[in-house]
Amino acid sequence: MQHIAILASGGGSNAQKIIEHFSGHSSIKVVIIISNKKNSGVLTISKKHNIPSHIIDSKVQLSSVEFIALLEKNQIDLIVLAGFLLKIPEELIHQYPNKIINIHPSLLPKFGGKGMYGLHVHNAVIKGKEKQSGITIHYVNNKYDEGGIIFQEACILSKEETPETLQKKVLVLEHKNYAKVIERLLSR
Ligand code: GRF
Repeated sequence: MQHIAILASGGGSNAQKIIEHFSGHSSIKVVIIISNKKNSGVLTISKKHNIPSHIIDSKVQLSSVEFIALLEKNQIDLIVLAGFLLKIPEELIHQYPNKIINIHPSLLPKFGGKGMYGLHVHNAVIKGKEKQSGITIHYVNNKYDEGGIIFQEACILSKEETPETLQKKVLVLEHKNYAKVIERLLSR
């Protein structure tokens, strides 16, 4: 079995899709959900699916001996960020080289970097009069949204597009692709 840890801060719709995709899978399993927000929707999802969860309250904890030990105890092969807002410290990146991935709601390198999350991204895309946007799944390195790109899919903006409608359009692409890309990475 290959083991996935999902790190998420928010509602967890991507986490839910990933959990559903791998439920009953013969060789890949989501074994732990880690969140930095006590009341995040993703914790409700982990309970519903009987997946153990763990709460951290700062970035510092991500590089602590205890946290690395928790990942090791769970024999984690891939760390999947799904709407996780804390920066991943270098120590953790060194411990898990090319084993931490993220999904970003734009076509990187455009509209990435610090502060570019949620509606901020889609606002900027519309202000920039872009004709298309999309998703990027990428490795995590020590700079926000700059790790190697694994997968991208684009969508076309309509004339009436608003940040909210674009967010929904992009989320559909995320749900369609994230689990499949994870499966491909772990099946190599
Ligand atoms: C997604 O838009 C993802 O691209 C970004 O954070 C959002 C998480 O959404 N990194 P959800 O919590 O999975 O619904």
